[in-house]
Amino acid sequence: MSEKVKVGLIGAGGIAQGAHLRGYHSIPDECEVVWICDVNQEVAEKAAAKVVEAGGAKPQITTDYKQMLTDSELDAVSVTTPNKYHVEPTVDALNAGKHVLCEKPLGMNADECRRMCAAARENKKILQVALQNRFTGAARFAKQYIDGGNMGDIYYARAWALRRRGVPAWGVFIHKDQQGGGPLIDIGVHILDFTLYLMGYPKPVSASGQTWDILGKTPGLYNPWGDYDRTKFTVEDFAVGLIRFENGAVVSLESSFMANLDGDPFKASFFGTKAGMDLNPWGADPVKIYTEQDGQLFNMVGASVPHVESAHVDEVKAFIKAIREDLPSPVPGENGLYLNAIFDALYKSAETKKEEPIDVSF
Ligand SMILES: NC(=O)c1ccc[n+]([C@@H]2O[C@H](COP(=O)([O-])OP(=O)(O)OC[C@H]3O[C@@H](n4cnc5c(N)ncnc54)[C@H](O)[C@@H]3O)[C@@H](O)[C@H]2O)c1
Repeated sequence: MSEKVKVGLIGAGGIAQGAHLRGYHSIPDECEVVWICDVNQEVAEKAAAKVVEAGGAKPQITTDYKQMLTDSELDAVSVTTPNKYHVEPTVDALNAGKHVLCEKPLGMNADECRRMCAAARENKKILQVALQNRFTGAARFAKQYIDGGNMGDIYYARAWALRRRGVPAWGVFIHKDQQGGGPLIDIGVHILDFTLYLMGYPKPVSASGQTWDILGKTPGLYNPWGDYDRTKFTVEDFAVGLIRFENGAVVSLESSFMANLDGDPFKASFFGTKAGMDLNPWGADPVKIYTEQDGQLFNMVGASVPHVESAHVDEVKAFIKAIREDLPSPVPGENGLYLNAIFDALYKSAETKKEEPIDVSF
């Protein structure tokens, strides 16, 4: 593709302005933002002003994304609406022949993801899930090490996205009907994607989990992320799960908005037949590798972890590159389906108290 990719935003709030626009603006020779949609006209105007500030022409503005999708010149959209409003714009955009970069989690549940993945397949368009942690320096470093066979078979991993006190008091994070879930679906999705990406995305087959909502509902508990109405807290504050995969591997997942623990660990640990590894996706801690050689044990620290200025920007660049060079989706919709299907099973298991099967067909 020699012409610039013409892009639109559906939802122009926090992540659209803070991440997606920055990404598009970083490659002005390859793409341009030509449409901005937000149900809130003022927000759309603010985002449009940012496009102009960055040197672009003023994009067209609408409060109805369907109007944007009628533009035959438009190639691609970012779907950056709250979780509840991912599925319809994504399916409509794919059916209108546009490529889609959709924010995480892909859907509120696996059934929504199935519709999105099917629409991408039927229309032969890219559906990318905005899971930026796999674009970090630590992710690149670990992926090369693991894919080089240095860990042997990874048979177990721990994934932690834990906050001691971090209930987002703004937006819709505490409302299950609009978010689909609590920390599991909001931040657990990041660490689980990071973990499964490094493990080569094995197919999940079943999961067992438990959730709690006691701290999140308790009035007066310290929450530096703002005050919120405890009576309206309908998501979990803490979720744990054990996920089994077709290749025999197992992952344990812990995610919280509130829990009594030391700090806010956000990291993954891998247990392979040749080595183990601990790392944080953003490189907040060193990449540590534990191995054995000739009867001696070694602890190694990654010393050439690449510096990545912004994983958000790099995910957007990967999206545009895939469109221009006709490449597969850098973060396939199917990965988003796996994640939502795992969450569905964990939430169900928390109710049934049984291990639940996982279906990722679409
Ligand atoms: N990848 C990340 O690290 C990351 C970080 C933050 C948020 N997110 C995700 O981004 C999404 C949006 O979160 P946010 O923090 O930007 O929220 P936000 O509330 O700041 O912005 C969302 C915008 O969407 C608009 N909107 C709602 N429904 C719409 C519709 N039907 N059509 C057009 N516009 C609509 C709202 O008016 C709002 O301006 C969520 O799915 C969230 O999980 C991802």
